[in-house]
Amino acid sequence: MKGVITAGGLGTRLLPMTRVTNKHLLPVYDRPMIFYPLEALVQAGIEDIMIITGGNHAGDFLPLLGDGSEFGLKQLRYTYQRREGGIAEALSLTRDFVGEDKVVVMLGDNILEKSIVPYVEKFRHQPHGARILLKEVEHPEFYGVPTLDETGRIIQITEKPSSPPTRYAVIGVYMYDHRVFDIISRLTPSGRGELEITDVNNAYLEEGLLDYDILEGWWADCGETRQSLHEAGCLVARTGANNRE
Ligand code: G1P
Repeated sequence: MKGVITAGGLGTRLLPMTRVTNKHLLPVYDRPMIFYPLEALVQAGIEDIMIITGGNHAGDFLPLLGDGSEFGLKQLRYTYQRREGGIAEALSLTRDFVGEDKVVVMLGDNILEKSIVPYVEKFRHQPHGARILLKEVEHPEFYGVPTLDETGRIIQITEKPSSPPTRYAVIGVYMYDHRVFDIISRLTPSGRGELEITDVNNAYLEEGLLDYDILEGWWADCGETRQSLHEAGCLVARTGANNRE
């Protein structure tokens, strides 16, 4: 199984901090933001990871993370997304790296209280398809939101709906088989000009190949605003992240 972390973008909502480095290298309590998803993947037994970066400070990752051996990685690779084309477009850059394997994708600004191990283990035993994680949130309208039927099956996922059908958000941890790359190659850009990860998930859904779990513990999407960055730092200070104090 391979791991991918998205860490691109210009981080304009976090200016002026992002004038001097990439958003995913800003501190969240006692470590750089990207350490959290990296550690989460390592805990799940993933030893081959690719970081997709972009923007003006891509070089800043190297002196911090190097070849990944300090994290116990077999290999840490990097690729560069030239424009802000969406999460699915970013993922398409990892096609050769992932090959015929399965892949766990984490958004580089998502931090979790608990470890992802139980979900990744389920996905390891899932013969094919995709697996996503849902979390109940106060403002689902900012996220991908599932519509569920009475048996709890996902019928559809809508990106940032103005009237959310449920209070669940699809969080930034996505598990796919290698067919994800064929799916992405058939996507067309959304209204915001991006290849949407929600469209990828809906494609798996149409084939009946999308499973999900409800996430235990808190989830912080910390790269959105100064406020969310600050709140994530407070959460980590209080409880630790990735099941670690
Ligand atoms: C992205 C996804 C969205 C998901 C969210 C999680 O949103 O498009 O479906 O719920 O990440 O953080 P974006 O950060 O691109 O607005």
